[in-house]
Amino acid sequence: MPSSVAVVTGAAGDIGRAIAKRLAQSHDVVALVDIDETALESSLNALGDTGRYAAIACDVTDVVSVAAMAGQVAALGTARTLVNNAGAARAVSLHDTTAEIWRQDSALNLEAAFLTFRALEDALKASQGSVINIASVNGMAVFGHPAYSAAKAGLIHFTKLIAVEYGKFGIRANAVAPGTVRTQAWEARAAANPQVFEEAKRWYALRRIATAEDVANAVFFLSSDQAAAITGVCLPVDCGLTAGQAELARTFSQSEHY
Ligand SMILES: NC(=O)c1ccc[n+]([C@@H]2O[C@H](COP(=O)([O-])OP(=O)(O)OC[C@H]3O[C@@H](n4cnc5c(N)ncnc54)[C@H](O)[C@@H]3O)[C@@H](O)[C@H]2O)c1
Repeated sequence: MPSSVAVVTGAAGDIGRAIAKRLAQSHDVVALVDIDETALESSLNALGDTGRYAAIACDVTDVVSVAAMAGQVAALGTARTLVNNAGAARAVSLHDTTAEIWRQDSALNLEAAFLTFRALEDALKASQGSVINIASVNGMAVFGHPAYSAAKAGLIHFTKLIAVEYGKFGIRANAVAPGTVRTQAWEARAAANPQVFEEAKRWYALRRIATAEDVANAVFFLSSDQAAAITGVCLPVDCGLTAGQAELARTFSQSEHY
């Protein structure tokens, strides 16, 4: 039987690396896909077990690069899980968003998932595999970073498009929507305001923010047979952020129990 492969894009980043580590428990090989070759090397070193991981340099916004990546994945085995995790946000407000930023954020946070899916769909059909798109709470409500958020909302819809059209092939597709996770993507904001994570906690029902491992656990579950009947959903991993706001509930109800 060919090796089962998990493909994780943006795997040189903190969430991607945590997902790769978790999926190595249920796949023969995990393909770490990233545009940043130096960071990929560090990720590979941090993960340790070199026999289990393969690094593939790829710009997921480029169709030629994605086709080459799919060829490298096929040489490793059959893709059973595709995790579209590469993503980044640029402008913080609509006022600051240029046409170029809008296009770049759409290309990376939405179109790239379409490109990788089409490139790997035959393998996913053969393995009756699944796709997990890493969206964001920003795709569910407004928390800033408009172009990124609109793309993440599109990514949640794209997840449903795969689920409905490809379900007949046994392919499942689900999204995971993390709330704040402290990663290198937050470095500049944490440098500008070292209290940013402490200040954010009050908005989360659990009074904490999620970790990369929390996100990886959700991906692991959705990729597994335990989730065999789950497709087309978006699972928030957000410590209750999108469930509701305790402070507002206290104001409305005038109850100290919130
Ligand atoms: N950190 C958070 O608070 C948070 C919250 C919600 C959702 N997310 C989502 O989780 C995912 C991972 O975020 P993170 O915080 O680990 O980010 P990160 O910046 O640590 O990692 C992102 C990785 O994507 C790679 N990448 C960027 N452009 C690429 C391209 N064109 N081709 C291939 N790889 C590319 C980067 O090199 C980097 O290694 C993203 O989709 C992000 O939107 C993060």
